[in-house]
Amino acid sequence: MGFKKGLSTLLFAVPVVFGLVPPQKRATCPDGVNSAANAECCSLFQVRDDLLNNLFENQCGDEAHAALRLVFHDAIGFDPKAGGGGADGSIAIFNATELTFPANAGIDDVLDVVGPFLQKWEHVISPGDFIQLAGVLSLVNCPGAPKVKFAIGRPQPKAASPPDLVPNPFDSVPTILSRFGSVGFSPEEVVALLASHSAAGADDVDPSIPGTPFDSTPAVFDTQFFVDVQMRGTIFTGTGGNQGEVESSIQGTLRLQSDHELARDSATSCIWQSFVNNQAKVQSEFGAALFKLSLLGQNSASLIDCSDVIPQPLPFTGSVTIPPGFTHSDVEQACATSPFPNLPIQPGPPLVVPPIPQA
Ligand code: HEM
Repeated sequence: MGFKKGLSTLLFAVPVVFGLVPPQKRATCPDGVNSAANAECCSLFQVRDDLLNNLFENQCGDEAHAALRLVFHDAIGFDPKAGGGGADGSIAIFNATELTFPANAGIDDVLDVVGPFLQKWEHVISPGDFIQLAGVLSLVNCPGAPKVKFAIGRPQPKAASPPDLVPNPFDSVPTILSRFGSVGFSPEEVVALLASHSAAGADDVDPSIPGTPFDSTPAVFDTQFFVDVQMRGTIFTGTGGNQGEVESSIQGTLRLQSDHELARDSATSCIWQSFVNNQAKVQSEFGAALFKLSLLGQNSASLIDCSDVIPQPLPFTGSVTIPPGFTHSDVEQACATSPFPNLPIQPGPPLVVPPIPQA
């Protein structure tokens, strides 16, 4: 009840408008190679190529995961009451303040990796735009990821975001949904955004095991994450007992308490299950929600669409399965209104997922 009320107030409070500046006549860029619907986008092709080749090294690895996490931690720093500039780059420029927020643990390492590229291209692209560009490009080498819209024109950040706006992995489902709800995101959009944890892992939740993936396929943007988190948790890969962590099912993976509870709470369990083995749905809903996130705190009517700069990500060619060593009875079915999809069981010995090689 309270949540719905909050959402309706928001429609007036949060200026999330999707209309971008209309495109001009398609321009051939001065490099003679590329073309873009808006000539302002031409200078970004060199940045794109540098990021894909030299930051991400054409892989869906640690650097790509880091850049995607940075999008979220910058953008969510906005609240209709508390203020903050949202997707403005403040997490990089005012890092001395924002990195003191506990939920930003590990973002120092992210900025160590991404920051030099942000500085290298600061004469071409603002910090807020850069973080979004890097995040969208981080997905290009993750098979199954959508091509996400990208726009430029965010002004320089003016101040650090207020504290306590980034969700913690030990927050309750109502707390998480209310934080996202206060900036206009529905429970469906929250769960869609968590598909990002399909190509992700943790360094700091259990510092004894850096680079521990959240699912068995951390270099692929598939829906295996939604299956793996729905399996009964029985093991800790590392020390266990860390704040924000619960038991996982597959050796070598780590499960966040927040992901575990969102998969089981009556407010979100059916949404969670609806993404299982539905690559088209995860692509379209995650893509739309990530773009919406990139507009938080910004006036989208003054942004210019530069989606031309983003290549089509690699396709997903694998299949989503019950992991080896498990059966359907290991699925902790939580959605009350529809059965869990009948997935094939992957043959073979139980998996031991290796850590994500660190940047
Ligand atoms: C309920 C909301 C969320 C919570 C509580 C949460 C929490 C976390 C935590 C604790 C980590 C591990 C950090 C570490 O120890 O290194 C993590 C990693 C990550 N998160 Fe989230 N997250 C949330 C939503 C999101 C969203 C919306 C995105 C992107 C759109 C995102 C993208 C990522 C990525 C890509 C990583 C992996 C980073 C890496 O491997 O370096 N998360 N998240």
